[in-house]
Amino acid sequence: KKRIVSGVQPTGSIHLGNYLGAIRNWILLQNTYDTFFFIVDLHAITLPYDAQQLSKATRDTAALYLACGVDTSKASVFVQSHVRAHAELMWLLSSVTPVGWLNRMIQFKEKSRKAGDENVGVGLLTYPVLMASDILLYQSDFVPVGEDQKQHLELTRELAERVNHLFGGRKWKKLGGRGGSVFKVPEPLIPPVGARVMSLTDGLSKMSKSAPSDQSRINLLDPKDVIANKIKRCKTDSFPGMEFDNPERPECNNLLSIYQLISGKTKEEVAEECRDMNWGTFKSLLADALIDHLQPIQKVLRKLQV
Ligand code: TYM
Repeated sequence: KKRIVSGVQPTGSIHLGNYLGAIRNWILLQNTYDTFFFIVDLHAITLPYDAQQLSKATRDTAALYLACGVDTSKASVFVQSHVRAHAELMWLLSSVTPVGWLNRMIQFKEKSRKAGDENVGVGLLTYPVLMASDILLYQSDFVPVGEDQKQHLELTRELAERVNHLFGGRKWKKLGGRGGSVFKVPEPLIPPVGARVMSLTDGLSKMSKSAPSDQSRINLLDPKDVIANKIKRCKTDSFPGMEFDNPERPECNNLLSIYQLISGKTKEEVAEECRDMNWGTFKSLLADALIDHLQPIQKVLRKLQV
């Protein structure tokens, strides 16, 4: 069986982007692949954090995986820090990772700019090496993630190839290995729709856990009235009707794509259904669909948390 690994950081609230870009796809994959889904708590300490909150968020994230449909009879679910080998492999990989590769990482540049110099630990820079360890440790074939992790996956592939070049083949056989390659070179699995869910308040920036305004995202645990209110207040435009793929209407495209994924309809069906709707009508359709989709997840979660 081909192998799949993926994880989510237990920071802040898990939102619709995490769900549509990653977690939702895990549920389908666990039926056919050998799957490992972990809660990446070691990644969550690369920025300032509160230990008690992190410990709670780690448990909550595990519960959320299960509530979203991750099935422990099919998938291995665990906390990253409980498997020491992640951190151990990271050290070995760090020693063959050129610093220049890490300096290039867009997320590092963004996060360190936001955090301010005194808060930027070495861990924020070496974060992608730990992510590579998470993946290479399991000789993974595929990694289901959203678009924003593409560069980290590319680095993981380059690192695997570098290690194979430095230590693979006959050299590895002499050390007692099988010969051939040390690591499998993994491939990202980025969904065609949902890989980059955008903010509700700005269709040009990504929905994110760290955005200051909670109005910009739908958290999976938002109550009914909060979801309805966020959708009601989200950014609109003054064009008539609803349409996909108009570069002048990023908000419209984003909300239609969310509706497409949540309703399980095709893009053509959604385009047809919503073409002549005004914003008000479409927003209430979308809010209802979101509430219907998220309520069963929230119900299971409440049971798991008691
Ligand atoms: P994290 O916790 O930031 O995000 C978890 C997953 O959600 C996806 N995602 C999105 N997808 C669509 N639209 C969005 N707006 C959006 N925001 C986030 C992310 O792409 C990701 O798939 N470094 C990783 C966690 C990680 C990991 C790994 C993933 C650590 N080790 C090994 C896979 C394999 C991260 O911080 O994801």
